[in-house]
Amino acid sequence: MPPGLSVTADFLALYMGVPGTLGRPRQCNHLVDFFQMNYLTGKHILLGITGGIAAYKGAELVRQLRLSGADVRVVMTAAATEFIPPLTLQALSGNPVHTDLLDPAAEAAMGHIELARWADALLVAPATADFIARVAEGRANDLLAAVWLACDAPVALAPAMNRAMWENPATAENLATLQARNIRILGPAEGLQACGETGPGRLLETDELVAGLSALFQTGALAGQHVLVTAGPTREAIDPVRYLSNYSSGRMGFAVAAAAAEAGAQVTLVSGPVSLATPAGVERIDVESAADMYSAVMQAVTTADIFISVAAVADYRPADVAPQKLKKESADISLQLVRNPDILAAVAALPDAPFTAGFAAETEHLETNAQQKRRAKGVDMIAANQVGAGLGFGREENALHVFWETGEQQLALADKGKLARQLLDLIARQFHDSHHQGKILKFHAKDST
Ligand SMILES: Cc1cc2nc3c(=O)[nH]c(=O)nc-3n(C[C@H](O)[C@H](O)[C@H](O)COP(=O)(O)O)c2cc1C
Repeated sequence: MPPGLSVTADFLALYMGVPGTLGRPRQCNHLVDFFQMNYLTGKHILLGITGGIAAYKGAELVRQLRLSGADVRVVMTAAATEFIPPLTLQALSGNPVHTDLLDPAAEAAMGHIELARWADALLVAPATADFIARVAEGRANDLLAAVWLACDAPVALAPAMNRAMWENPATAENLATLQARNIRILGPAEGLQACGETGPGRLLETDELVAGLSALFQTGALAGQHVLVTAGPTREAIDPVRYLSNYSSGRMGFAVAAAAAEAGAQVTLVSGPVSLATPAGVERIDVESAADMYSAVMQAVTTADIFISVAAVADYRPADVAPQKLKKESADISLQLVRNPDILAAVAALPDAPFTAGFAAETEHLETNAQQKRRAKGVDMIAANQVGAGLGFGREENALHVFWETGEQQLALADKGKLARQLLDLIARQFHDSHHQGKILKFHAKDST
């Protein structure tokens, strides 16, 4: 463990799968990475605060989340506003605080569905016994419960209540219901309570809540795998000062690389020229042209288990690169273009090819063109997106239609980070399935010899 860090037994219980009081244990093979990485930077975090005595700790939690680089919005129950003024949380989060489900003004600005869509993760801390009962029942009778029900991002709650309320079988049953739905329960801790009693029911410390939230993004779905991603445009030189390129910003590819790292993979990102920061835990190789990208990919792919081609690689390059700047001498000039290597097809055709996933940016006939491309290149998965007319390139949001041999899935319009995490989930599932199938085939082949 890095020096200067100390952890509680509960904390380890959550991340190392050691039995503890922090709710459902999970496995983490990258403990050191875990401690060194913060997966909250740039994330949209929705913090729900309910009406318990620990609601005042919401102020410090908002501060810590913002220090971690998250964009925070707060939703409060009516009872919570009795314990801490919304104004405090508005000032600390830098965003308006949401409290009313049936307020027409609030709905117009950011209604419950908008808030749920906006969130990369939802944490309710503190969560009262009553709130836990409401969401276990599937109620949507106030803004926070409605957002909870509408949220398809990872959700967690941190219970805080009197010891006897916590130990009551009704609360235990509600918690078990939520755990069965894969809801992450953070805490509670044990100790002296506001009511003067001692026992379980204290809200976890703020740093433990922040770490627990960050861990929501660490799915471990690709732990131990090497994922190679390409991103951005390529530049095809015309002369020393000019090139052919396209509008790709690299955002989708960088989001895919970040999501793969969060899923526990070792990630290599081969990037064309973009102005984006390298995601945490990702090894980046910068290239300019399609030919450079081809060489970098062919070198890195030898150890890759999964190859995800997101780069908008130029199909053609000028046949000759002028050694000096072309002069404005004639009224028109023509450029002769020659085909660039198809990197995705080349990787898919390797004798020991990794699982391959590509992107198909289409301006028309999305489904037909994407499936044709997938089959023609022998690629395992294609994520098709409509580009042009304000869609796709350079935007923060995107929508995808993903196809593979035996299925398809639509991923609705969402922030590219959220979309990348959903895509990585699909890729991980298909990868593990195909791996499993491959093993069975190899096993049968051995059997028959
Ligand atoms: C002073 C005081 C402190 C409370 N503290 C808690 C608490 O820590 N945990 C809890 O579950 N309920 C607590 N309650 C009860 C909740 O406020 C009550 O169940 C309320 O309806 C919860 O509303 P909400 O879940 O919509 O926020 C407390 C009530 C009072 C009056």
